[in-house]
Amino acid sequence: MLANKRILLIIGGGIAAFKSLDLIRRLREQGACVTPVLTKAAEEFVTPLSASALAAQKVYRDLFDLTDEAEMGHIELSRAADLVVVAPATADLMAKMAQGHANDLASTLLMATDKRVLIAPAMNVRMWEHAATQRNLAILQGDGISVVGPDEGDMACGEFGPGRMSEVPEIVAAVGAALGGGPLQGKHVLVTSGPTHEPIDPVRYIANRSSGAQGTALAAALRDLGARVTFITGPASVPPPAGVGVVRVETAAEMAAAVDTAVASADAAVFAAAVADWRVENASGSKMKKDGSGNAPALEFAENPDILATVAQRTAGRPRLVVGFAAETDDVVANATAKRARKGCDWIVANDVSPETGIMGGSENRVVLISQDAAEEWPRLPKGEVARRLAQRIAEALAD
Ligand code: CTP
Repeated sequence: MLANKRILLIIGGGIAAFKSLDLIRRLREQGACVTPVLTKAAEEFVTPLSASALAAQKVYRDLFDLTDEAEMGHIELSRAADLVVVAPATADLMAKMAQGHANDLASTLLMATDKRVLIAPAMNVRMWEHAATQRNLAILQGDGISVVGPDEGDMACGEFGPGRMSEVPEIVAAVGAALGGGPLQGKHVLVTSGPTHEPIDPVRYIANRSSGAQGTALAAALRDLGARVTFITGPASVPPPAGVGVVRVETAAEMAAAVDTAVASADAAVFAAAVADWRVENASGSKMKKDGSGNAPALEFAENPDILATVAQRTAGRPRLVVGFAAETDDVVANATAKRARKGCDWIVANDVSPETGIMGGSENRVVLISQDAAEEWPRLPKGEVARRLAQRIAEALAD
C-alpha cells in the first residue's frame, strides 16, 4: 500500500516513543522507506541505534552535525519525503509547530518542509485538555496539518482519558489516507476560499474580514480523504495547505474565471470564499489624489458575478454536489434556506457571523447544514473539526 513512499518520521520525547519503533517496522512492511529523526528528549526513551536498525537508515539527531549537513542539508531532508509524520507529537512539539519555532532539528524540518504533515499527539490527559494545547491543535488543523488520535484509555502516568497515542495500525492507516487511498480517491473537488480584493486604484481596495481559515481547513480535510483538490483562494491571511492545487486570485472576476476553468471536471464544488458582492466600477488606473477641495471621490459600484449560482445553475458540466456557505447575522436558518433555493445549490453551510460570535476571522465555527429536506444544527466546533465533518459528508454524498 505504501510502496516506495518516503516517510520522514520525527520521534518526539514521550513514553509513547517506544511505539514509534514498531511504527517504523509496520510502515516498512507496507513498502515505505522511513527516515527517523529523534529529538533530544526522544533519545531518553529510545536509542538512535534501535531506530536506525529498524529503519535500515541513517538516523538524524538533534545535534548540529556538519557531516550530516554536508551529506544532506536539513532543507533537503525536509523535502525529500512524501510525508512527514510526527509520532509521538508531544505538547511541546505541537506548541513549537503552532508558533513556528525552529530552534532544533525537528522543529526546523517542520518549518522547512513543503510536504504534508501528519501528527500523532501523545501526552498526559490534563496536558491534552489544557486550553493551550487545544488552541495549538486548532492552529495546526487550520494550517492544514493532519491529526490522528489521541485515543482514550489508561495512560502510563496512571490517569485515564484522551491523550494516549493512537495504536500503530491506526497511524499506518492515517499515513495511507494522507498519501491517497481515502474515500475520495479519484474524486476532484474544487474549493473557493478567502476574501476577494476589489481595487479602487492601484494602491487601495475594498475587502472583507474573511481569513480563509474555514476554506483552508476544508481543503485539507478533503485532501486527507484522498480527493484531488483545486483550491482557488483570494488573498487570505492563512497559507494554503500543502498537497492541493492552489490557484491564487485577487478579485471576484478572477475567481469566477478560475472556477470556470476548473469546474467542469469537478465531482463536487464548495464555495467557502467570502466574495465581494460589488466591485468599483470607476476604479482608477493611477493613484487617486486629494484635489484640495475637501471633496471625497464618489465610488460607483457594479455587482460581481455570483460564482456559486452560476455553477449551481449550469446545465452542462455541473458538479454532482454544489455546496455554498451563507454568512448571516439575522434569521440564520430562514435566510440561508431561502439562499439555497435562490442560488440552486445542493447544500448551504450557514453560519452566524454577528460580531459577538467571534466566528469571522476566529478559530471556531457554529454551522447549520441546510439541504433540500433538512436543517442540521452542528455544535460550536474548531474550524478544523467542522471541515472534517463536512468532508466526510461530501465523501458519503459522492459515494451514493
Ligand atoms: N458567492 C459567490 N459569488 C458571489 C457572492 C457569493 O460565489 N459573488 C458565494 C459564497 O462563496 C457563498 C455564498 O455565495 O458560498 C453565499 O454568499 P453570501 O455573501 O452569504 O450571500 P450573498 O449572495 O452575498 O447574499 P446576501 O448579500 O443577500 O447575504
